[in-house]
Amino acid sequence: MMLALKQVGKNFGGLAALAGISFEVHGGEILGIIGPNGAGKTTLFNLITGVMSPSQGDIVFREKSIVGTRPHQITQLGIARTFQNIRLFGNLSALENVMVGMHCRTQAGLWQGLWRTGKQRQEEADIREKALAMLALTGIADVSQALAGSLPYGKQRRLEIARALAADPEIILLDEPAAGMNESETDDLKQLVARIRDLGKAVVLIEHDIQLMMTLCDRIVVLNFGQKIAEGDPASIQANPAVIEAYLGKEEG
Ligand SMILES: Nc1ncnc2c1ncn2[C@@H]1O[C@H](COP(=O)(O)OP(=O)(O)O)[C@@H](O)[C@H]1O
Ligand SMILES: [Mg+2]
Repeated sequence: MMLALKQVGKNFGGLAALAGISFEVHGGEILGIIGPNGAGKTTLFNLITGVMSPSQGDIVFREKSIVGTRPHQITQLGIARTFQNIRLFGNLSALENVMVGMHCRTQAGLWQGLWRTGKQRQEEADIREKALAMLALTGIADVSQALAGSLPYGKQRRLEIARALAADPEIILLDEPAAGMNESETDDLKQLVARIRDLGKAVVLIEHDIQLMMTLCDRIVVLNFGQKIAEGDPASIQANPAVIEAYLGKEEG
């Protein structure tokens, strides 16, 4: 067990956005999170990554509670994420977008001083090399010099993943990475997620595309109105009456 949520809840004023949520994430698995809009999926990621603190419960990573730990420290511990709304520096190149994130982790700032020491130069070269490797891994090395804002949507999504991977996470959280992608981009994304898992990382994936989730995930957690209504392998989720009702209920409403 790598990450465990224990009876986690989050209230926004009178709204219980999440209540009594418990599940585990294991190394080398793809765990899917599905549920209708407003179910609490993104809030779950915000709690795990320290953007917000839970109102109840505990979140344990490698046997230690990470509640109250700051987001950048959680990244350093080994949990990285992408955002539902793309957050890139549109006027920086793809390569620079990956490098900027990595510089937060080093001694020398990216734009710091003209008199760099040999050590700083080496550090910079290492970062550049690693950033390029991440672009290659995510299949966008050919656009490393292009401005992030000029890239097609699917490639911006990949760039976000490259940036998250550059932090060397043990767990990567992907919030609707296929949103706005066409069919072939979604297929590519699917292969990328599987490749990340094959590197030994755990992937937690929020996505609405049920077909994608059923074929890609090892396990799935289903949220509805802030509650966990099901957890299991894709076949058991697909056959679960509570899951079917939650989705059918939404279509009727
Ligand atoms: N920062 C916030 N302040 C107040 N309410 C929020 C905040 N973030 C999310 N919510 C509410 O919590 C519920 C769950 O939202 P969210 O986690 O974004 O759902 P999902 O990602 O499953 O669509 C929604 O009702 C949403 O309006
Ligand atoms: Mg969301």
